[in-house]
Amino acid sequence: MLNILVLHGPNLNLLGQREPGVYGNATLEDINRLLETEAQALQVKVSALQSNHEGVLVDAIHAARDQHSGLLINAGAYTHTSVAIRDAIAGVNIPTVEVHLSNIYRREPFRHHSYIAAIAVGQISGFGPNSYRLGLQALVHHLRENNPSG
Ligand code: DQA
Repeated sequence: MLNILVLHGPNLNLLGQREPGVYGNATLEDINRLLETEAQALQVKVSALQSNHEGVLVDAIHAARDQHSGLLINAGAYTHTSVAIRDAIAGVNIPTVEVHLSNIYRREPFRHHSYIAAIAVGQISGFGPNSYRLGLQALVHHLRENNPSG
């Protein structure tokens, strides 16, 4: 069974309380539950981790090399700053889909650049919690296209 790692970056533990006008009312737990339901429908396994620390996210990406066939990541603000996370994803060469709750291109100019986008299979941005659901669907579709037995 395909095993997907879901990584949530900094401040996403505050979802539900954090700038609800931008990020909505769903909590991280709600999003993980939604992903669990979608994973069952797609017949894949997901494991989710949230960290506010860049190095923890880098370590989790390295560890995924042996255990996971795909990565779904909302790197939060590290999207716009972290060459380390970009290099970790490129280094392990695991197919990756980047997601964002908000539409980063409708926001401040500093959010318009993503270090991850250029090495990801694709990016989904602006659909709230549904960005994660759509991202998981797209990632699983991509993995199955490339390995039909998955
Ligand atoms: C975010 C967008 C980022 O710019 C921001 O720093 C976040 C959340 C999103 O999901 O919309 O923390 O990744």
